[in-house]
Amino acid sequence: MKKLNTRIIKKHKLKGLGYPLSMLTCYDYQTAQMLDETELDLILVGDSVGNVILGYETTIKVSLEEMVMFSSAVKRGAPNKFVVADLPFGTYSSLEEGIANSKTLFQQSECEAVKLEGAFPYQLELINRLVQIGIPVMGHIGLTPQSVHEQGGYYMHGKDQRTAHDLISKARDLQAAGVFAIVLECVTPSLAQQITDQLDIPTVGIGSGDKTDGQVLVINDLLKMGKETPPNFCNPMADFYSLRQGVVQKYLKNFQKTEKNENHLYH
Ligand code: KIV
Repeated sequence: MKKLNTRIIKKHKLKGLGYPLSMLTCYDYQTAQMLDETELDLILVGDSVGNVILGYETTIKVSLEEMVMFSSAVKRGAPNKFVVADLPFGTYSSLEEGIANSKTLFQQSECEAVKLEGAFPYQLELINRLVQIGIPVMGHIGLTPQSVHEQGGYYMHGKDQRTAHDLISKARDLQAAGVFAIVLECVTPSLAQQITDQLDIPTVGIGSGDKTDGQVLVINDLLKMGKETPPNFCNPMADFYSLRQGVVQKYLKNFQKTEKNENHLYH
């Protein structure tokens, strides 16, 4: 199986390759082993690990150490995949900090690229420096969960002319700074298509319609691993929450308990 290469993506754009880019999140070794044997193009070790694995309310609490731990586990399980690791909140608040922390994440996880949210001027400079150092970078605009409090919640972006124009220029700036692809999260489908048409690099959408060059989903939503209902843009293809619960219940039914043990355990 061929591993995707950022230069190939850039050169031919995905339309040239003839298929949309598939990307799923992953947070552990065994799931990564399974994904490694599939045709999936890209794995994202998202900081959504904070929500779906660690039970944090937002992604803001995720630390660099946690990202190194989860992304290196994924990379060990998926040596043949192009794995992108998220830079967590507060680890790229300045140019110097961003360079140092990206190096740590990239080097210790052995992933192929890092992803960061936003396109402020210092972030564009950071991206440029990272690419020069040899660290491929994926951009992420629209709904950026690390800024959820600043953005005022979770909602669709680019609904009016001003914000649409702002997102188009951010996408262009990110491309000029050197990102190899851009995640468009919860951007209105028509704007996502407009941005996609204007760029030479691929866009990867989530909750942004079906006209982007690729799609990314949180694997726990796709498989419905959790108790909560997945976001409405994700149609779960299985119900692993119920399935796993059913197996545990079946196991417990067959489990032999003596009356004596029960009394002892449940006092
Ligand atoms: O952390 C994550 O899972 C992400 C995706 C939603 C793109 O950034």
